[in-house]
Amino acid sequence: LASIEVDVASLEPGMSLTVKWRGKPIFIRNRTPEEVEAANAVQLGDLKDPIARNANLPVDAQATGVDRSGGKGKENWIVMIGTCTHLGCVPLGQAGEYNGWFCPCHGSVYDTAGRIRKGPAPQNLAIPTFSFLSDTKIKIG
Ligand code: FES
Repeated sequence: LASIEVDVASLEPGMSLTVKWRGKPIFIRNRTPEEVEAANAVQLGDLKDPIARNANLPVDAQATGVDRSGGKGKENWIVMIGTCTHLGCVPLGQAGEYNGWFCPCHGSVYDTAGRIRKGPAPQNLAIPTFSFLSDTKIKIG
């Protein structure tokens, strides 16, 4: 299946972009240190969905801050499928109670690691297969 390469050199901390992959929006965000810290401080027991939902990891990997991110050393990066796990609307970025993503359709609230925290959505935003080709280039798919 088709993969895409995305140049993220222009994304400073706190900046995001959305690309299309297999007809779906993919959110790429260079998180601020504060966003990474907020995500890493959350206890797994406080999560509605404690599973990472990260296609790059085993299916039972837990939704820790690092396993929801670009991985060790790349924890600032978030790459997610921008489709609400409730009924598929596209959530808004840097919105909602946790300053992560907020789905305006029925009020699902995701944190800065894209984990569902409130509202009807059952799962964390899915993380697609991706890898870093270099520090500034991400391959999705
Ligand atoms: Fe997002 Fe329903 S589709 S909350």
